Amino acid sequence: MSSRWEAALERLRGRVERTATAPLSGFPHFADPEEGSWTCSPAGDWTGGFWNGMLWLSAATTAHAPFRSWAQEWTRKLLPRVHSDTVFRGFLFYYGAALGDLLLGDPVGREVGLAGAQALAESFNPVAGVLPLGNEAEEASDVGRSEANVDTVQSSALLSWAARLLGDERLAQIARQHALRHIEFCLRPDGSVCQSASFDPATGALRRWYTHKGIRDDSTWGRAQAWGMVGWALAYQWEREARLLAAAEAAADWWIAHRPDDYVAFWDFDDPAIPHTNRDTSATAIAAASLLKLAGLTADRDRAARYRAEAEATVAALIEGYLTPDGRLLAGCYNKRIGLATNHELIWGSYYLYEALHVLAGALEPNRI
Ligand code: GLY
Repeated sequence: MSSRWEAALERLRGRVERTATAPLSGFPHFADPEEGSWTCSPAGDWTGGFWNGMLWLSAATTAHAPFRSWAQEWTRKLLPRVHSDTVFRGFLFYYGAALGDLLLGDPVGREVGLAGAQALAESFNPVAGVLPLGNEAEEASDVGRSEANVDTVQSSALLSWAARLLGDERLAQIARQHALRHIEFCLRPDGSVCQSASFDPATGALRRWYTHKGIRDDSTWGRAQAWGMVGWALAYQWEREARLLAAAEAAADWWIAHRPDDYVAFWDFDDPAIPHTNRDTSATAIAAASLLKLAGLTADRDRAARYRAEAEATVAALIEGYLTPDGRLLAGCYNKRIGLATNHELIWGSYYLYEALHVLAGALEPNRI
């Protein structure tokens, strides 16, 4: 079985190496499915960290020397983003820098990651218990100090990592509060996830539930469900607060109960056009990586076995149906509402498939990052 995962890993690793040696105008963001040519983001948008994360994983698990210098080089390119007013610095500086410290004890990863984490913590609203989206958040609408979404729960992991390195309990408290408040904002009683919420920044009171990228405010956008799974699982991995594990398990159980029989989610679980609509392999890859984390975190052995089996079947479906021989994960749906990259290779989908394959191939302990 392991050779199957290793073969898929090799395909993705080849794509990473070819991308690293190609002339790029910025961080690889998404690529067209026919030619595989990258649309790049000069400053990293919200996704640049996933590219760095693939380089850090490659550096940690192969003897190929250039991966580490490429990872350091791209990590330094995140420094201009330290003070960007966006909560998505969580993605940029955890995957894009902190992974270097976590996987290799790398000083560049540590310094850049800590700079990002400390600056992000300054945006915390203690009354609301939230890191708000911020005025420069990379969403097409509804950003600022009064907006939140489940995509940002993962930011807690960056602050928890920094808290541990610096011995700064305040950062750990922010991490816990941010992840816990999003349970109230985004987790519905049945375990499905609502992407977004508005709140009063002066009192912290919840004002409305809605979506940035789903089909309707009351639908379940595929990536919202997956971001909830990974965000709360990671927050529990770092902070060991039982409510975080319960939230991650509720979201995971809902995913398993509602995903299609062939394991690969449609872009929104409530699109009436299903099955004649887009898949989102990126949501599916996030879910698979989350299930592997949860299998290592849950205390219940049956549940752990169920999550592991589901993750294996999901990754198998992705590599059999959507991974090209040259390592491109197709059929990711970035933003169906505005028609952006709806059937593409998306760097974050590739990252989470790469992470999951490292775990399945035995090259990475699931709760290390
Ligand atoms: N906001 C992150 C995403 O589109 O998934």
